[in-house]
Amino acid sequence: QTTFTVAIDGPAAAGKGTISKRIAERFDLAHLDTGLLYRAVGALSLAGQDPIEAARTLVPSALDREDLRTPQVAKEASQVAAMPEVRGHLLAFQRDFARQEGGAVLDGRDIGTVICPDANVKLFVTANAEVRAKRRHAELTGKGLKIDYERVLSDVIARDQLDEGRQDAPMFKAEDAILIDTSEMDIETAVAKAVEIVAAHL
Ligand code: C5P
Repeated sequence: QTTFTVAIDGPAAAGKGTISKRIAERFDLAHLDTGLLYRAVGALSLAGQDPIEAARTLVPSALDREDLRTPQVAKEASQVAAMPEVRGHLLAFQRDFARQEGGAVLDGRDIGTVICPDANVKLFVTANAEVRAKRRHAELTGKGLKIDYERVLSDVIARDQLDEGRQDAPMFKAEDAILIDTSEMDIETAVAKAVEIVAAHL
């Protein structure tokens, strides 16, 4: 393998987004948040498009839409992500991204298991559901959204179950992935740990 690939998987609000961004900056790698692909398809599906067609014809500019971070879109993303045809249409784009010169960080649910099984470094970033729901709740209310903590918690748990339980590319820790549990870790500590692991694999 000539390029350098970092695969970061884990459930929502465990810290993988921040960790991925910071790893990309620190090691000068390109970064793809693969959840955005499923969110973009989810948003198009909510707007009435057939999700399989939406995935087949997805254009990069669809990832810049401002409305992809809502709980409704997250839920729909998880639904369309369970469709093998949707996943199939998004596969080549992700693999090409991973292989680019200069290296890349991809974060999602199946990067270390399906998209980049040969990644140079694999991390699985997780935290217990209550901690993740608390973080997501703070993030959403910080953006001005009015939503109950209990509602966020049940959404987080429901999405975990969907992502872990689907037939095609379910979320799980690859055998050779290194686990980072951020339940009792602040984000700076988690980032430092991830940086240390990646540096050791350069
Ligand atoms: O990470 P994010 O919350 O943006 O992902 C939204 C949804 O997209 C996830 O709940 C999951 O169902 C799906 N997804 C996936 N595979 C990935 C990334 C995201 O199935 N690699």
